[in-house]
Amino acid sequence: MKKIIPLLILAAVMSGACNKSTNLSEDDSAIEKKIDKLLSEMTLEEKIGQMNQYSGNSAITGPLKARPEQIEDLKKGWIGSMLNVVGATNTREMQKLVMENSRMKIPLIFGFDVIHGYKTIFPIPLGESASWDLEAIEASARVAGSETAASGVHWTFAPMVDIARDARWGRIMEGAGEDTYLGSLIAVARVKGFQGKDLKDNNTIVACAKHFAAYGAAEAGRDYNTVDISDRVLKETYLKPFKVAVDAGVGTFMNSFNELDGVPATGNGYLVNSILKKDWDFKGFVVSDWGSIGEMVNHGVAKDKYEAGNLAANAGNDMDMESNSYRDHLLQLVKDGKVSEKTIDEAVRRILRIKFKLGLFDDPYKYCNEELEKKEVMSEANLNMARDVSRKSIVLLKNNNQILPISSDVKTIAVIGPLADSKKDMLCNWTAMGDPNDAVTVLEGIKAQVSATTKVLYAKGCNIADDSVTNFAQAVNIAKQADIVILAIGEAGNMSGEAHSRGNINIPGRQEELAKELFKTGKPVVVLLMNGRPLTIPWLAANAPALLECWFLGTQSGNAIADVVFGKYNPSGKLPVSFPYSVGQIPVYYNHKNTGRPKLSDTDFYVSRFEDIPNEPVFPFGYGLSYTTFSYSDITLSDTAMGMQDTLAISVQVKNTGKFDGEEVVQLYIQDLVGSVTRPVKELKGFKKLMIKVGETQEVKFKISTSDLAFYTKDMSFKAEPGDFKAYVGTSSSDCKEKRFTLK
Ligand code: NOJ
Repeated sequence: MKKIIPLLILAAVMSGACNKSTNLSEDDSAIEKKIDKLLSEMTLEEKIGQMNQYSGNSAITGPLKARPEQIEDLKKGWIGSMLNVVGATNTREMQKLVMENSRMKIPLIFGFDVIHGYKTIFPIPLGESASWDLEAIEASARVAGSETAASGVHWTFAPMVDIARDARWGRIMEGAGEDTYLGSLIAVARVKGFQGKDLKDNNTIVACAKHFAAYGAAEAGRDYNTVDISDRVLKETYLKPFKVAVDAGVGTFMNSFNELDGVPATGNGYLVNSILKKDWDFKGFVVSDWGSIGEMVNHGVAKDKYEAGNLAANAGNDMDMESNSYRDHLLQLVKDGKVSEKTIDEAVRRILRIKFKLGLFDDPYKYCNEELEKKEVMSEANLNMARDVSRKSIVLLKNNNQILPISSDVKTIAVIGPLADSKKDMLCNWTAMGDPNDAVTVLEGIKAQVSATTKVLYAKGCNIADDSVTNFAQAVNIAKQADIVILAIGEAGNMSGEAHSRGNINIPGRQEELAKELFKTGKPVVVLLMNGRPLTIPWLAANAPALLECWFLGTQSGNAIADVVFGKYNPSGKLPVSFPYSVGQIPVYYNHKNTGRPKLSDTDFYVSRFEDIPNEPVFPFGYGLSYTTFSYSDITLSDTAMGMQDTLAISVQVKNTGKFDGEEVVQLYIQDLVGSVTRPVKELKGFKKLMIKVGETQEVKFKISTSDLAFYTKDMSFKAEPGDFKAYVGTSSSDCKEKRFTLK
């Protein structure tokens, strides 16, 4: 069976060859005319109103409503959008205030952080990215979109498409990891999933590519911190996922909190006006991050919010989330001639355009349907989808002596660890309306799948983050009685996410010591690692008999983990991010440069190396095992050379040599050996996830063209340079076959 990989499609999208947003359909032209008319009738105050976004009362224990002081502004039509107001009933009530009282009757757009599910919570985005399964990722966003839409909300502040190479940064959990190519494909899948076929459908929502831009490059991984990177790195590494999101039709963008080259992103005209709106021809609107306009005062580029509002509006920021700078100063800024009415009109046009595309002018209440809400939210189909995506996200890191999978009629299982029966931790951060009580823990999932005669023992062993070891004895005691031990350890669910940077990214508290005590019993121990970021686990990686990276999998955590533990599902995930040996290596990523003194052996001295730690991560990007084994043939190339207009076919035979049917992610990397500027040691350029039956061999074929070899050359033009290249195909970034070819 042959698999052809459509590399050309992404390459075209990446290079900007196709651009959906430039072609205005008939529908679009009609919308523009309607906007012209509205703009001609609106007062300046009403226009500025559209540019204001406020948060409702985000009480997490109940329905989310408007703050009383906002009611009057809503009635006057001085608010264009609300966030954190959800539910068919709440949103209808608030929409009514606008539709029944305001002069222009312009519907509100409701936004909410639906990051990995609305109420049916899916794996954290980083974990889901480990599936390398674009269909599954799109389906997950589709479910999240349908539940959100059924609950009255039109807009999610997702996907976060920030590339992140620093695991100290808590928000690494929200993205797709360290790689631009994988991250770009995942960005597109998520945008398509949220936005569906047509925003006018009543189960689709507008997506938001965030945070624009380079937020993931915060110095020391400390959230909100300074970013200082070259324009080349910005364009090559950080901007591409945003660009492909535009080409996939994403409706909105959100600015980032960080500065870039001394200019905060919220007031950065180079990013927003020049790159996003002009070069990429983005037609949607840009919302600031929470309060980020006002934060330009702290950044030290504005004296006060009047100046900050001026900077933001003129940089192309269309909507102010919660800083009140536009509400309080934009009118005066126009009167003072600092912000032109044209700029205001352009911002309002963009906001109205999305409202039209959502069909809100046809029916402002179309998302407010309590019956649909009841039917859709946490439906059986959605829960099943979450379970499937969750098990696909698990990565098998180690499996000595094929401990896994275990038989479901084993006599006694000991389930141990502070994360083994903790509902609240399973959802991690950004849980939208997710309810921890709905989450299935490991203990529950295991109990649900064992035979009637299997005894399941449980002990917590210790807490996640304190120093107490008093409960170790009980854990060791039940381990001794068991045939197999399942140990769930890692971070608490709230240790990653916004404002949750960590200086040490080890397993907190005494959990590793608990593992040590359990290993000493000589019982087979399967370690389930739960974490919102890569952790530094050299000791655990060397000593755990079996290790499953489970991230935080959401509502269906325990069921999905049990599916993998008992072999109902053969793990197929691959790491979307490197696992550092220690924080001293950070940033550590597979597509680094060679340097002038690469370390080629352990005896080299004056080379790029550390005195005390290896250069390599503990687990590299693209790594992940299966219960079966795969063997790769040598690479076959269609030719040893290709011309600028040619394509080159690269193929390998992959055989399932083990005892289980299984999926493998076959990965293609390319290295440009000599360039006008230095090039990475290898870069992902294609992959294919395929099911291979026991004993079966499949041919996997990739096609590459010149655009796959292009980069920002010395003069910053994006093109391929003639010369020698290496193609690598394999099972991870560090385990590949290779072959050379030449671009003429
Ligand atoms: C701040 C976060 O940076 C952003 O990602 C989020 O969408 C907004 N707050 C709204 O909650």
